[in-house]
Amino acid sequence: MNRIVIHADQGSFTLNRNLYGHFAEHLGRGIYEGLWVGEDAAIPNVRGIRSDVVAALRRLRPAVLRWPGGCFADEYHWRDGIGPRAARPAMLNSHWGGVVENNHFGTHEFFDLCEQIGAEPYICGNVGSGTVREMQEWVEYCTFAGRSPLAELRRAHGREQPWRLPYFGIGNENMGCGGMMRPEYYADEYRRYQTYVRHLSGNRVSKIACGPNGANYEWTEVLMKRAGGLMDGLTLHYYAMPPWGEDKGRATEFSLEEYGRTLERCLVMDELLARHGTIMDRYDPKKRVALIVDEWGTWWEPEPGANPDFLFQQSTMRDAMVAALTLNLFHHHGARVRMANIAQTVNVLQAVVLTDGPRIVLSPTYHVFDLFQVHQDATYLPLHLAGDDWEIGSRKLPAISASASRRDGRIALSLAHTDPGREARVEVSLRGAEAGAVAGRILHAPTVQAHNTFDRPDTVRLRPFAGARLSGGRLEVTLPPASVVTLELTP
Ligand code: AHR
Repeated sequence: MNRIVIHADQGSFTLNRNLYGHFAEHLGRGIYEGLWVGEDAAIPNVRGIRSDVVAALRRLRPAVLRWPGGCFADEYHWRDGIGPRAARPAMLNSHWGGVVENNHFGTHEFFDLCEQIGAEPYICGNVGSGTVREMQEWVEYCTFAGRSPLAELRRAHGREQPWRLPYFGIGNENMGCGGMMRPEYYADEYRRYQTYVRHLSGNRVSKIACGPNGANYEWTEVLMKRAGGLMDGLTLHYYAMPPWGEDKGRATEFSLEEYGRTLERCLVMDELLARHGTIMDRYDPKKRVALIVDEWGTWWEPEPGANPDFLFQQSTMRDAMVAALTLNLFHHHGARVRMANIAQTVNVLQAVVLTDGPRIVLSPTYHVFDLFQVHQDATYLPLHLAGDDWEIGSRKLPAISASASRRDGRIALSLAHTDPGREARVEVSLRGAEAGAVAGRILHAPTVQAHNTFDRPDTVRLRPFAGARLSGGRLEVTLPPASVVTLELTP
């Protein structure tokens, strides 16, 4: 039996809606085909941006969208992506398959996409191969309301009013694809570049420094020590995948042993958030600087037949479980972790939407984001969980992951049951609140390998959940094997 006590009368911070952020890079079929089809396409679109994908994303209330990379960001030159499309210079996308990028999707198209899906823009600038001047001018081009050569250039390209640009990243993975820098060197570069990222015309830009990959605690230490006072956010990247160079395994064909290993890797996020957070606490005890997990998710071998450099993968109930566990962890660390961006929105890695020509399919991960959106901007409620473990091979894994929040008198509880072999009973007590009614939805499929295809798009979908019962002030829940549920409790 699993027991949860929710402290409904406590809760000292809000779960930032930006925890439900996305990331779209110029990689494979993520931008081109996935989001951008061009104005003349047969696929219905608004100013070149495909309408079916926009409608699906809008439903998720994606708080923020990070663009243009990723590794691509540090070789992107924004001036190539403005002006009449036919006249835009092409470039080689040397990180992702050596394909030619025609720059048809650039700054104007990105802001348009953000407006269409209802997300705030988060641009990642080029430190690795770009100049300070280039970065300064990009911000001015986007945000300056007055008369300056760059604001006039923006107007000449059809945008009179400046855009709001709330988040700007100063480089991406600068220890690797973003320039192979040492932390000391990057910290100095960060100090220099950020100086010229100006707050113009009332637009306050949150400046986001490139943080560590995984367990690179030294990077966090050096960055916080040398530049912590000059940043609003520090990034963390972590993928639930085997070490580089090892076989990543197939997205849809895997054993229960591999399922267990993936969940174990996913749960490492808890330790990463705690330990990077502890370092940040030393330099920033008031938690002014946000920890921003702007790349996370699963990473499998590409689907057979797909271009291996395009990182196109299917997504199963296993990925859905990773999403649920990770979002619960973000909630628990939500005082410090205030933005996260799943990699990546469409057709790349742990995508929420997959496309094939005019067809689209929603992945199981999409449905987890849908189930969890009730937590956006709600007050985090601490909970105590005493749960069972289950074993797979030599591994022991916690059967239940949970988090709760409150808004307008409603309490939302998200539960992930990881054990694929048996159902789980959970007894939930509320401290400091009473519930009169419960309703919920569930994501569940017969196997953890279950996934949606273009021919069978609804194999894994949300359904009403009938397994929760209120009796004598207690909530009793019976969860099917490997399932994800969100319950809403009302007085
Ligand atoms: O998301 C794919 C890649 O993973 C990104 O471009 C890079 O930042 C990370 O290594």
